[in-house]
Amino acid sequence: MDFELKRLRPQEAASAKVDALLALVPSDFRAGDDALSVLIQGALDGEHLKADAGTTLSMYGAPRIAAPRVVLAGIGDGGGKALRKSVAVAMAELRRTPAKTLLVCVAGTGEPPSWVGAVTQAIDEACYTYETTRTKPDACKLRKITVGTQHEASARPAFAQAQAVAAGINLAREWGNRPGNHATPTLLAGAAQALAGKKSPVRCEVLGPKEVAKLGMGAFQAVARGSEEALRFIVLEYRGGPKSQPPVALIGKGITFDSGGISLKPAADMDEMKFDMSGAASVLGVFRALSDLRPKVNVVGLIPACENLPDGRAVKPGDVVTSMSGQTIEILNTDAEGRLVLCDALTYARRFKPRAMVDIATLTGACVIALGGVRSGMFSTDDALAGALEQAGNTSGDLCWRMPLDDDYAEGLKTNFADMANVAGRAAGAVTAAKFLQKFVGDTPWAHLDIAGTAWLSGKAKGSTGRPVGLLLQYLLDQQVPAEQPAGKARKKVRQ
Ligand code: BES
Ligand code: MN
Ligand code: ZN
Repeated sequence: MDFELKRLRPQEAASAKVDALLALVPSDFRAGDDALSVLIQGALDGEHLKADAGTTLSMYGAPRIAAPRVVLAGIGDGGGKALRKSVAVAMAELRRTPAKTLLVCVAGTGEPPSWVGAVTQAIDEACYTYETTRTKPDACKLRKITVGTQHEASARPAFAQAQAVAAGINLAREWGNRPGNHATPTLLAGAAQALAGKKSPVRCEVLGPKEVAKLGMGAFQAVARGSEEALRFIVLEYRGGPKSQPPVALIGKGITFDSGGISLKPAADMDEMKFDMSGAASVLGVFRALSDLRPKVNVVGLIPACENLPDGRAVKPGDVVTSMSGQTIEILNTDAEGRLVLCDALTYARRFKPRAMVDIATLTGACVIALGGVRSGMFSTDDALAGALEQAGNTSGDLCWRMPLDDDYAEGLKTNFADMANVAGRAAGAVTAAKFLQKFVGDTPWAHLDIAGTAWLSGKAKGSTGRPVGLLLQYLLDQQVPAEQPAGKARKKVRQ
């Protein structure tokens, strides 16, 4: 998609030579004396259009408008949430038209603050289509999108950032959407290596079964045993900050297909377990955006990738394995495999002496029950880190909700046969999974994002959402404020 940011005066939209015009209409719409304003005022007066976010009026051959197709879209208060909703609805409509070129602007004389970033990102996300394994995809016909604003110069940084974030989100969606046989651990590793080209600031190293055995990652190995596909341990590094500054480590669960293993899952909807590498995909998406944006932060990305399948060689319920940390684990349920691959990755992460570790995982069905698809579950041992993630979620619209980590929740992980079991009872399943992971983080500030409910949509709209790439990037961009700041205003911005 070709995006362009252009200075546009309110009266210029009507004469723009484009196939389609998307005019955003705020509740406090103030008409100018141009043709577009007159059209909109008439539509509002006649109650053909409301300014509520998500409502649209689509027309062809509107009087005194050069673009053959015009979509008017209410944006309510013009806030981020309203803009995203409005653009999603309008773009679903525009994607069905033959339009190749599109101009988007805010109608009337005023523009809501910082609308350009939110709208550019939402349009870019709306233009994504999954095509890889389809011979007749309903591809987006739009080729060129012009974002018109009166404040072109001040909107430029947000415009660039929005495209980078959207590219990261869309990369995560693409890898999430690819079926298990088109997104094997080896192919995921290839995607990571592709982010580390010669001109890229990203470095990538991929470890195979031999190296992983040498590291003593017995928990990760146990999960991979039942599959013919070789495991991969992917290490990504982006160093944009001061050399002395410890990195943030992102650890993404990369189960490229989760059948449950010997504790086999029921057949219904099992296909959706191709999305069980969404945490890994979000790490790839973040690095894609980092290589575009080049922010002043240091980031390490770790992805333990393998399949979880039943087989003659597969790990069995009751088997005890030794994790890289030296702690032993009784695997009571082979379907609780995410925490097994993550615990060794968390142990590995500590060698980077990170200032924070954040793991991202489609970890528990229980989290879907607790929070649904609206907010990701967030667990943290560190209040500052939790606060920063929560705020990044709010800023980006990629929401999370902090969940508890009381030690009493770990009681159920006790067993007579190992240092811990990999499952507790049914109660508070998302929390007990987090308590398991906590046993591997030591005193490093750590957060765990359970994205089981937010990483993909089911039903007719089945597909990856790319979450929580938006949240993670916002968090990393917020980290750029240097730690040593003179007292005063900037101090408030310093967060973990
Ligand atoms: N990948 C699943 C979690 C999951 C299930 C995500 C459904 C989204 C939708 C994970 O590996 C898993 O199977 N978890 C088990 C844990 C249980 C055995 C303690 C679960 O949630 O049922
Ligand atoms: Mn599982
Ligand atoms: Zn899983």
